[in-house]
Amino acid sequence: MTIKKVGVLGCGLMGSGIAQVCATAGFDVTALEAEQKFLDKGFAGIDKSLAKFAEKPEKSGITPEKAKEIRGRLKGTLKKEDLADCDLIIEAIIENVEDKKKMYAALDGIVKKDAIFASNTSSISITELMTATQRPERFVGLHFFNPVPLMKLVEVVRTIATAPEVFETVFEFAGKLGKVPVRTSDKTGFIVNRLLVPYLLDAIRAYEEGVGSIADIDQAMKLGCGYPMGPFTLLDFVGLDTTYYITHVMFEEFKEARFASPPLLKRLVMAGWYGKKTGKGFYDWKDPANPAASF
Ligand code: CAA
Repeated sequence: MTIKKVGVLGCGLMGSGIAQVCATAGFDVTALEAEQKFLDKGFAGIDKSLAKFAEKPEKSGITPEKAKEIRGRLKGTLKKEDLADCDLIIEAIIENVEDKKKMYAALDGIVKKDAIFASNTSSISITELMTATQRPERFVGLHFFNPVPLMKLVEVVRTIATAPEVFETVFEFAGKLGKVPVRTSDKTGFIVNRLLVPYLLDAIRAYEEGVGSIADIDQAMKLGCGYPMGPFTLLDFVGLDTTYYITHVMFEEFKEARFASPPLLKRLVMAGWYGKKTGKGFYDWKDPANPAASF
């Protein structure tokens, strides 16, 4: 089947990025949100990102005219019915199983029968989400990375029920977005979070044990391993609430101590220090160019 029109559920950080890369690749995109203010915020983020790319067209390939053209392929809506003729639905709403299942069940009756459903979840079982629909063979995971317009990787996730031709269609679609897709199966965390989450949690445990300061552990991993960000900067960037949620799902799945949340992560989440998005996490982000350790 050919994918022409894409529906994106949720226009937050991930949803808006996904909508942007799909429109940039030439697909018509409709983004669904619950309230106009969330759509406005998501589209403002897209405008900012496209403007950044258009500042350096020789590097990005996006001229100001092309940015306008991309923007013209993007629509926002508050009505599920506006997604009825989409060929592919990519869900990027809040990481909550019940909310996601409710959304899929509602859309299953509205969106055309041969459309493919995909979830951008980073940790929830694709198999569980698929059971909310009558199209298990047309259901996959499609996991993007933050910031979506820059990060090259997409994990394409198959369940035991995914039809091979559906998987290949979505795999090819990810390539058309200019991303590099990898194949993985529905095991919690897929490839990246399976390896990344224990590393991030170990950095917190190392700090708790007095191995080094937050800034020194970050510096060590950046300069010693060539990582673009140290673990605490990355934790603040991903969101501590998101990471905390992922640890629960992964610990529940594997029952291994390496996936369990360290006490300090829980304390930060209880305090509402979620990282960059709330202005404070392991770092205070008042001056984003010079973040200072929060404690
Ligand atoms: N849109 C367009 N352009 C953008 C942009 C955006 N959203 N964000 C940054 N840019 C541009 C900047 O303007 C800059 O452009 P120039 O080089 O032309 O000046 C360029 O991109 C690089 O940005 P920065 O100089 O600000 O920073 P950087 O060189 O450190 O790169 C980064 C930023 C790509 C985010 C890099 O730090 C990085 O790769 N960090 C690690 C990110 C990561 O690991 N993400 C995965 C998180 S895990 C996850 O998402 C999965 C999960 O399930 C939790």
